[in-house]
Amino acid sequence: MSAERERLFVCRQCGHETLRWLGRCPACGEWNTIEERIGGGSAAAAAALEPLASVSLEAGRRLASSIGEFDRVVGGGLVPGSMVLLGGEPGVGKSTLMLQIAAGLCAAGHQVVYAAGEESLPQVRDRAERLGCLHPRLLAVAETNPDRLSAQLDRVRPAAVMIDSVQSLRDPDLTFPPGSLVQVREGAIRIQRSGRASGVAVVLAGHINKEGALAGPKALEHLVDAVLTFEGERWSSYRLLRAGKNRFGSTQELGVFRMGERGLEEVANPSQVLLAERTAGVSGSAVVAAIEGTRPLLCEVQALLSGPAYGTPRRTAAGVDTARLALILAVLERRCGLRCGAFDAYVKVAGGVRLDEPAADLGLAMAIASVFRDRPLDAGTVVVGEVGLSGEVRGVHRVQERIREAARLGFQRCLLPKAVGAVAAPTGMEIVPVASVAQALSAGLG
Ligand code: TYD
Ligand code: MG
Repeated sequence: MSAERERLFVCRQCGHETLRWLGRCPACGEWNTIEERIGGGSAAAAAALEPLASVSLEAGRRLASSIGEFDRVVGGGLVPGSMVLLGGEPGVGKSTLMLQIAAGLCAAGHQVVYAAGEESLPQVRDRAERLGCLHPRLLAVAETNPDRLSAQLDRVRPAAVMIDSVQSLRDPDLTFPPGSLVQVREGAIRIQRSGRASGVAVVLAGHINKEGALAGPKALEHLVDAVLTFEGERWSSYRLLRAGKNRFGSTQELGVFRMGERGLEEVANPSQVLLAERTAGVSGSAVVAAIEGTRPLLCEVQALLSGPAYGTPRRTAAGVDTARLALILAVLERRCGLRCGAFDAYVKVAGGVRLDEPAADLGLAMAIASVFRDRPLDAGTVVVGEVGLSGEVRGVHRVQERIREAARLGFQRCLLPKAVGAVAAPTGMEIVPVASVAQALSAGLG
């Protein structure tokens, strides 16, 4: 391999990478912004070849924080040398979560560095004290220069570092302001490089605005090993943690917390929480027994129809895909004779949960049919099943877990796809097998 091919050039403006120098960046169109990245992989630094079978496994080396909801979402704890981005709107609780994870790791015998760039160290201390997170192994530093921070990490070699936040990182040699794409990217790249070399697990907090993303976190997504998002509604104290990308685990896991007086508490019984505000006897609501990652989760799907609409009817959905809503409406119209297609349709999954699972289809159909007929579903019934275009109800996986969770929460009846065959029902639970949406409607709505 020639030396020429080892060189890497990067645009200062947008971070675009190219293998040769160019006067004008092909990505952002700026002139004279392309520079050679110093220290980018030379032949001398080539990694050693080793038998794949002798590569040590990650599993045994995970750093568990003992905050189960967090550890599960990242795939069983932080992986040394990895980089995790924790994104969320300002005020959602990123700093709080990072302090609590740090304290959990310290309690497990690890040393952790908290790098504060947003708040002063006295402020961080004050919060840590209130949260019960002060620990002799928890070190703090007010450092935003990525190279100086890397040097510190290299010297101390903690198990993990919490960087609060990636937007506060700033290399004074770069002319761009903190939070700009270049500062955020450069900062993350340098810390990642040193974190990998010394085996430090890096957690970066990143602010995301209402529209989904600031330039920063979006640009980091391909760089980091996992992207976690922390979400919550301002008026609710519940917070949901999920992985949008995870090199070391599933992206299906959902972590549920409640923000309380003393920080974030793990919610051991999320189904109960999600169903707590349900009002019985109202039409347009169905309870779905879903699977989120490794565990079952019951949640409420709500539907509302208004109209008929003039012109093209609107389809508005929160927590499910609008294309899926359109499909369910079409099936109800064409296969079940419900003339609901001309109405504006709104559906919402309560509690901010997202239901991407096909098994939630039948619940969606039931909620819409219920509001269309203005007839409530029986409050003790849960619904499970995928809906096909012929109006058939298709089988789903992990039926036992769903039924067990429903029974545990006091549900007495479950509409299940006939296709799953005979299932052992827990005592007090009646199983109603349905082969089609039409059958489900007559079983559930009479
Ligand atoms: P914070 O962790 O600072 O959010 P972020 O880092 O994502 O901006 O959390 C801030 C909010 O959480 C703030 O509105 C106060 C609230 N909060 C509590 O309700 N209880 C607590 O114990 C703590 C530390 C914060
Ligand atoms: Mg913060």
